[in-house]
Amino acid sequence: MTAGEVTITDVGPRDGLQSQAKILTPEQRVELVEALVDAGVRQVEVGAFVSEKAVPAMAGSGAVLASLRASGHEAAYSVLVPNIRGYERAREAGAERVCLVLYGSEGMAQANVRMSRGQAEASATEILRRARADGVRVTSTIAVAFDCPYDGPVDPSGVCDLAGRMLDRGTDELSVADTIGAADPGRVRSLAETLVSQFGAERLSGHFHDTRAMGLANVYAALEAGIRRFDASIAGLGGCPFAPGASGNVATEDVVMMVEQMGYRTGIDQAALMHASDRARKLTGTAPGGRASAWLKRRYGQSSGPEAAS
Ligand code: COA
Ligand code: ZN
Repeated sequence: MTAGEVTITDVGPRDGLQSQAKILTPEQRVELVEALVDAGVRQVEVGAFVSEKAVPAMAGSGAVLASLRASGHEAAYSVLVPNIRGYERAREAGAERVCLVLYGSEGMAQANVRMSRGQAEASATEILRRARADGVRVTSTIAVAFDCPYDGPVDPSGVCDLAGRMLDRGTDELSVADTIGAADPGRVRSLAETLVSQFGAERLSGHFHDTRAMGLANVYAALEAGIRRFDASIAGLGGCPFAPGASGNVATEDVVMMVEQMGYRTGIDQAALMHASDRARKLTGTAPGGRASAWLKRRYGQSSGPEAAS
């Protein structure tokens, strides 16, 4: 008897890599994504069609997508698009899933895309309209849904209203993001319960960073409120270049460990996931690894994959 399914999107190859000092080649990024897919991760955010000047690490996302689409691995690949130009570039590269960003605060909208919150919503709404016509799946992420590094605490009722508008407009998934890792399980549970009661859990997801060591607790709080979709980042890679002080996402291996131990199914093989974590750490040199990495390594070993010794 299991507690049900939890769907994990690994955002390490996008959210995780975008602020690393070391820029990986498209081939190395593909290698990381393939290690995740080999471990059973079915959804991966693989790149971003953003300005290469703004985020040099995401240059070549078209090549990453093309290579993955050609490789025949069975997984759903999404890419982040910050504006209409990004959507058009993503479509030219063959993207079938896109992630749009909305903002809980004015300060973050300005820092990230030099738009007001309203302009970002109008732009996302236009992309969503086009995506629906194009048969492209859309995740709308509300960045800084709890706290903004520029404007401070974010009003939850504004987040709920924005979520409701994007759900009404037909977004396939609506993610609330603690971009800087400042939320706590109390606030997460309260916002998640309100969202679930208003909109149902089916299309909701959570995106938590582990800056203050509350990433897993926040996943748990959202899970208790009924949310079953989470973003996570292999080896805890990450941080946002436009959100000072933010560290990586909650580590995928920690989330898989926790929810599987609680009886949920993720479809992910923990031993193979440790191999992907190892790749992430070797490729970047900086990924911290999950909080349970000492135990996970002892339990599952690091030599579960053919390349682990390289
Ligand atoms: N992809 C590639 N280039 C883009 C682009 C896109 N989606 N959107 C705009 N550009 C280019 C423009 O062509 C212009 O190029 P130029 O300087 O060679 O003429 C340059 O970026 C600036 O364009 P502009 O329209 O003046 O926008 P901006 O300077 O206000 O920058 C963004 C806006 C959105 C392009 C930029 O801030 C960005 O890419 N941000 C992404 C932030 C991000 O990824 N954050 C992390 C994820 S949440
Ligand atoms: Zn993030």
